[in-house]
Amino acid sequence: MKHWVKQSFSILNQNRSLNNKSPVAIFDSGIGGLTVARRLHSLLPGEQIIYFGDTARVPYGTKSHQIIRQYATQIASFLVKFNPKIIIIACHSVSSLGRSFLERRFSDFVFFDVIQPSVKEAIRVTKNRKIGIIGTPATIASNSYPANIKRFDEGIRVYQKACPLLVPLVEEGWFDTDVTCEIVRHYLIDLLDRDIDTLVLGCTHYPLLKKSIEKIVGSSVHLVDASDATGKAVKEFLTDTGLLNSKEPKPPVLYFSDFPEYRRKIMLNFWNNRQLIIKKVNIERRCDV
Ligand code: DGL
Repeated sequence: MKHWVKQSFSILNQNRSLNNKSPVAIFDSGIGGLTVARRLHSLLPGEQIIYFGDTARVPYGTKSHQIIRQYATQIASFLVKFNPKIIIIACHSVSSLGRSFLERRFSDFVFFDVIQPSVKEAIRVTKNRKIGIIGTPATIASNSYPANIKRFDEGIRVYQKACPLLVPLVEEGWFDTDVTCEIVRHYLIDLLDRDIDTLVLGCTHYPLLKKSIEKIVGSSVHLVDASDATGKAVKEFLTDTGLLNSKEPKPPVLYFSDFPEYRRKIMLNFWNNRQLIIKKVNIERRCDV
């Protein structure tokens, strides 16, 4: 067993009683983290997924560190009541600014983020060692990607761009429109001038814009999407710790802090109309569990 798996396993065993039926918790500022939840559900259909999307307060990536940490703490306080095996931070902005904060605050729980798996995948696929990163202003300002990539390989060149308009487009379901393509072009032009061969989608909302992004970058640039790499890392962890639940499939339970009726369709289309349980929760009062 790897060192960090052993360490996490001892955290899990110390103060909490867990078994393989305990759920896996995932959260994001909105619907973007569903890209990770959906991949996880297809890799591990026996796991009970509890998802929380903070749709009442999205976007996070244009907010201050303090607010992002405060919101993340409220969400974690809600999710820990389900006694999850792990909590996946399916948000690059919270992963960049809040992971160690949450680990200190909720020290009996094991957290996964979406940055480490994306970094490893980007390093694995780049050939010319020029990697582009797009993300929210918070993620880009935190420098978490360049710092993590340089820890593995000093020689890789990393170019970043904050794309604040992309999250609202996704939340409204504008995945592949002419306007979306034009905005993507505006953001990516500088990165493409740098001759990157790999582009990290450093926000879990962006995989929903893949078609528009591919139209702009072309087929020679490899897109790195955190959902697959994160899903595989979680599967490996649950297998190594004996916590994997391979029994019959369970419908994911999705909590949202707001859920205007017109957005139900966006959500259901996204999950291919599979069986889902959707609930609304007042996260500031932390009720409804
Ligand atoms: N999906 C999130 C991320 O990966 C947050 C985007 C936002 O709320 O600004 O960063």
